[in-house]
Amino acid sequence: MRKWLVGGLGLLLLCCGGGVAAIVWFLARPPLDEHVDFNRALKVPPLAPSTVDAQGRRVFELRAQAGESDLGHGATRTWGYNGAYLGPTLRAKRGEPVVVNVRNTLPEPTTVHWHGMHLPAKVDGGPHHPIPAGGAFQAAWTVDQPAATLWYHPHPSETTEKQVYRGLAGMFIVDDDEPAQAALPHDYGVDDLPVMVQDKDFSGDQLSMSGRFGSDIGVLGDQILVNGTPGPYVDVHSELVRLRLLNASTARIYSFRLGDGRPFALVGTDGGLLDRPYMTDHVRLSVGERAEIVVALKPGERVTLRSGPSLGSDLGSKLQGGRDSFDILQLRAAASLTPATLPETLVDTPRLDPAQAAQTRSFTFQGRQINDRKMDMGRVDAVVVKDTVEVWNVRNGHDTPHSFHIHDVQFQVLAVDGKAPPPELSGWKDTLFLAEGETYRIIARFADYADPATAYMFHCHVLKHEDEGMMGQFVVVERGQQPQLAHA
Ligand code: C2O
Ligand code: CU
Ligand code: CU
Repeated sequence: MRKWLVGGLGLLLLCCGGGVAAIVWFLARPPLDEHVDFNRALKVPPLAPSTVDAQGRRVFELRAQAGESDLGHGATRTWGYNGAYLGPTLRAKRGEPVVVNVRNTLPEPTTVHWHGMHLPAKVDGGPHHPIPAGGAFQAAWTVDQPAATLWYHPHPSETTEKQVYRGLAGMFIVDDDEPAQAALPHDYGVDDLPVMVQDKDFSGDQLSMSGRFGSDIGVLGDQILVNGTPGPYVDVHSELVRLRLLNASTARIYSFRLGDGRPFALVGTDGGLLDRPYMTDHVRLSVGERAEIVVALKPGERVTLRSGPSLGSDLGSKLQGGRDSFDILQLRAAASLTPATLPETLVDTPRLDPAQAAQTRSFTFQGRQINDRKMDMGRVDAVVVKDTVEVWNVRNGHDTPHSFHIHDVQFQVLAVDGKAPPPELSGWKDTLFLAEGETYRIIARFADYADPATAYMFHCHVLKHEDEGMMGQFVVVERGQQPQLAHA
């Protein structure tokens, strides 16, 4: 109701008073501060069933499909994998060969990209390999990276924002044999919870993408879904609960915190666990980023996970939704809780050494371009020699936040504007919030999978920006080899 009133007022001002009045109205409008009744049990995506084939490979089936979902507004038309909204959680262990058979029953082309996964370019699911309506695709690779919270989502040329917004996304959990995995809460759906956060804008009972007024970054919804659940709560039966936070929105940046401001432990970032838990009272996630946190609970209490202001107090931040606040998820502790303790150390991350870098490159994100160029599937922006280390200076030269993401590798942050990175950027990352005007110095090893004919992407993960061409390509080659794109 309030939304309609405010919207109506805005429209009135726009018609009668012109643009100036509309701007005054927009400036005067307070940021969102959404509170919900936590009256639905959190949906936990099922673990995807798998079979082991004759070659010992773990085989999953994913079907992209249309359906109808109850997202709090009756029957809403949505898309999902093996269901009407989102997809099952895929899970595999380091060293395991996996196969995913993808079928597309949607009325348009799609792809499935394995965000954060180190794998051959041919099965990476980029825009060069659309799966036509009614078509199928098989991705096969061997998982070879530390335990982490990864995800999968479509990556078709120019329609990624829409497809993700309608519900195409899922989690991919990688396991390994590090003792930290057993020491942390690890019972999926019980004390180890996927928390896929998305904001939605509804028009009547359907999802709307028209509410982009004043936004340069795409849809900013006023309703939050966690794993497709509006107003979610979850019952917890142990003293520690691990939340695998994933920003699966198309544009919105979150700053997660607990309702009473209490600290929690950040234990992992995009590509794996941190060396040790880091106590903090908030964690910011731009689109595509993940954080694993562990929250301590007392018997019988209710603790709310919220998102608070994520950007500065200037007008631009307000236009990006960076001053908005939301209820996200309520944790309901049982009257008696199983004791649990947080390990003091987690893993030992080898540090990549910039002195070993074979190449240093610089990329500036500005407008919809990277180094003044838009995506061209026929152009190679970087030729990387297999098994070398590279340093990239990634700069946001714009007055809008962007989110840098690179396929194939996990990187380490060496410096943020010349300064040592904060603890939340001390571990493996594949997606990075780029604050206005700042330069991030990152380092990665491109260990395997030379393929001169097939490109990997790097891009802004604000999906509207990605669709509008804020993307580049790199090719990994053997030493002395020249790239020769199959799609040029
Ligand atoms: Cu999460 Cu290139 O994407
Ligand atoms: Cu990706
Ligand atoms: Cu961007």
